[in-house]
Amino acid sequence: MNLKFPDYIKSIRPYKPGKPIEELEREYGISDSIKLASNENPLGPSPAAITAMMGFMEKLHRYPDGQGHCLVEKLSGKFNISPECIVLGNGSDEIIGMLTRALLQTGDEVILTEPSFLMYEIMVLSCGAVPVFVPLKSFFADLDSIIAQITDKTRIIFLNNPVNPTGTIITKKGFDAFLEKVPEDVLVVIDEAYIEFAKDPDCLQGIDYCSDKHPVAVLRTFSKAYGLAGIRIGYGLMPAALARILHRIRQPFNANALAQTGACAALDDNGFLNKTVSLVHEELDFLYAGIEHLGLNYFPTEANFFLIDVERDADAVFEEMLRLGVIIRSMVSYGYPTYIRVTPGLRRENERFLEAFAKTMGKAPVS
Ligand SMILES: Cc1ncc(COP(=O)(O)O)c(C=O)c1O
Repeated sequence: MNLKFPDYIKSIRPYKPGKPIEELEREYGISDSIKLASNENPLGPSPAAITAMMGFMEKLHRYPDGQGHCLVEKLSGKFNISPECIVLGNGSDEIIGMLTRALLQTGDEVILTEPSFLMYEIMVLSCGAVPVFVPLKSFFADLDSIIAQITDKTRIIFLNNPVNPTGTIITKKGFDAFLEKVPEDVLVVIDEAYIEFAKDPDCLQGIDYCSDKHPVAVLRTFSKAYGLAGIRIGYGLMPAALARILHRIRQPFNANALAQTGACAALDDNGFLNKTVSLVHEELDFLYAGIEHLGLNYFPTEANFFLIDVERDADAVFEEMLRLGVIIRSMVSYGYPTYIRVTPGLRRENERFLEAFAKTMGKAPVS
């Protein structure tokens, strides 16, 4: 084979998803393991979404509604925003890719916080553009340093709020001061994959900036708080002129029919959303208390994951926890060599995590 791949494609680090439970059990010959690694919903999918999707099965021989009419209308009502400003995606991942393809040419620059969600870097590099990294400052997005990195070549700034993997937020006040300094030809993307979990009243809400006045796009997903990660559905809220461009370049049926059906039902299932958010908050408190009991430090979060300082090589802790049937995430590849990231699960899963964690760390079990 003598295919010539561009250097910028060869430079892409592959995305490494959280280890699936089945893979762990196959590799280690164990059973009954738990996964607290990918910020998924411990309650499963919204029951209303399951019912709606089951009822839709016999229509799967038809192509999806390429406009996503029902879901777009519902989102339009929820956010009080024109349907023309909404773009659906095969997960919000796909919208990240559409935005980069729409705006970037070889050599353009995109500012990313470091660490941040790896898909931004992958999509930027696959357009031949250049990621410019701005390190988080004490785990928070450093908006002043981002402004300082803007050049004539900057086309996009990716922010996530709350930040993955630290769980910190950007305040509305901080963002207002920031946005004033961003040139009008630079798109600011606010990725709100975890916004439903944020409690801080000062937290920036991207929807407040969704108008033709601001070059701002907001990304949201059904993968986390709505429990629909497996069917892949997310959306972007953005100026209509930008949405029109994304509609030109997207696949005609990018949001599949089952996903649209599930998402429509999930959006109406407020009971499930509230239950999920309450559970995550209660279980975070439970885990915080357990970690304190073990005499270790953690970083409080506004999302459905949090960081724990294990004061040693986090990859080794990750490996040891795997052997005990508990999947968490090591933050070594994110540049935090002594941190792990944990997503709260159900109470029994969290108890199991604490038990395995105490053992791994050589501490007495949390009673
Ligand atoms: C910050 C952030 N944005 C986007 C995504 C992707 O979400 P989706 O499942 O909608 O593609 C994730 C998933 O982990 C994420 O952490």
